[in-house]
Formats: sequence, C-alpha cells, structure tokens
Amino acid sequence: MAETNLLSPKPDFVLYGGDIAQLGLKEEIDHGLELLSPLRYKTYHALGEHDYYLDLGEYWERRIGPQYYSFDHKGVHFVVLNSILTHDDWINKWPTPMDRMMTMAGLDNPEGSPFMVGDKQREWLRRDLAKVAKTTPLVVLSHSPLQKIFRNWNFWTEDAEQVQALLAPFERVSVLYGHVHQIQYNQIGNISFNSAMATAWPWPYPETYAQAPSHLPVLTVPMNRADPFQERDATGWQFVDIHSGRVALNYSLNDNGNRVVAYNAATGQPEDQGFQPADARIPPQTHY
Ligand SMILES: [Fe+2]
Repeated sequence: MAETNLLSPKPDFVLYGGDIAQLGLKEEIDHGLELLSPLRYKTYHALGEHDYYLDLGEYWERRIGPQYYSFDHKGVHFVVLNSILTHDDWINKWPTPMDRMMTMAGLDNPEGSPFMVGDKQREWLRRDLAKVAKTTPLVVLSHSPLQKIFRNWNFWTEDAEQVQALLAPFERVSVLYGHVHQIQYNQIGNISFNSAMATAWPWPYPETYAQAPSHLPVLTVPMNRADPFQERDATGWQFVDIHSGRVALNYSLNDNGNRVVAYNAATGQPEDQGFQPADARIPPQTHY
C-alpha cells in the first residue's frame, strides 16, 4: 500500500482483482479491507470465488458494493463482472455453506463446478453496452479469465464465448483478470486479455502440471520462474496504462525481472516487449 501511494505518476484509481478472503469469512474480508485501507485512491473491486462461496457474496456486497457494475472514466467505459458464478443445482447440493466453500477453494478442485457469468448478468451487460459507442475503449475487469485456458483449475469461464460475443462489436476491448497468479495474455478477435499477478502464492504454469492435459494461450511467454515453492517468486503488482485505449501492463515482480506486456498495433495483439520473439525467450526451467 505504501509503494502504491508513492507511485509517480499517481494512478487514477486501483483495481483489485478479487479473492480478498481465503474462505469468505467476515473477519477475512474485514482484514483484507483493513490491509487495503491506507490506499489513497479510489479502489474498484471484482469478486473472487474465495470471497463468494460461503455466503454467496452477501457480506462482500455489504462491505464493498454490487457484485457487478460499470463506470466511465476519461472516455473509457469500464465494466466489472462477477465471473465466478456457477450452476444453481451445484450451489445447493452442499450440507453447509463451508462445505461448499472448502470445495471451491480446493486446489485441484475435482468436485468444483465451472465458473460462469450467467444469463442474468450477460443480459445486464448487453443492456449496459447498448449505451456505449462502438468507438469507445472498453476495459472489462473479471476475476476468472473470460476465455478458456485450463479447466481443471477453473482458469476458465464456461460462457466465455457468449461474453466475448457481446464485446465483439467494439473497436478496442481489453479484459483484465486476476485468479491465475501468473502472467498470461492472449488475443481473441478484437479482445485483448491480460492477467494480473497475485500479491501472494505463485502458481505453476499448467504445462508443468503432469497430471492433466493443459495449455497456455499460445501467445503467452511463460514467466521465468526459478522456484515455484519460493513464496515471493513471481508475485507482484502491475501498473496498467490505457492512455492509447489499449492496455499496456507493467509488471513489477518480486525477486524476478520486471516485464512489460503491451498491445502492438502493428501485429494486433499484446506482446512481451522483451521476450516475445522466440530467440529472445529464456529456456524453460526445471519445475519441481
Ligand atoms: Fe480465484
């Protein structure tokens, strides 16, 4: 928080990508907000599954605000979605709310259920976007990626294609997301996707996970992660520049080289400014 308050230039606002809590407990949400309280900027929050699956977002809503919303800032239309909803019959099958949360918070999540935005919220999004000119830059913040990357870890949104179809008519669309604890980026049609780093707990890349078939967006140059068990390796924070109407992400990483991933107008996709060419990449490292 102190570093963020000292940033120069000062950010217009802070985006928090979700999972402020671990198991959705009131004291965890209160504690997370207390940690964030020194921030001198307006902060916009997205809802994560660790915030949601105990009381279905009730306390989070009371402390933070609506589960999805939009706002305009300096000519950019921002939309914040709750992308971690799931099927109603799955929600109601657990003997207690904590059983449900423990299942969704489980690492490999074998009993979990895919995340989704859902019919009701997609209808809200359709109506929200109907008021926005197609030339207006659009930035969407979600917790899970609004694309399908790795289902076993819910690096996945089940109705991603339907959400993407609502964003397709706009000239400049950027999706920022949390949840994955690693650098990812991708381009699907007109939509650029960029993930945010986590402030804790680095996550290995799916291709290092031998128990399941997996992949990353082909564009993404994996992070140089020497030791996934070193808790500060590959965590950090990002400065998001949307001056051009497209996202440029400056990743500031603990114990690792900083990275810049920015939209390249010549190729029409986000690219790592140091490591994108195949011959500039660091050879894959041994993972444990
Ligand atoms: Fe998450």
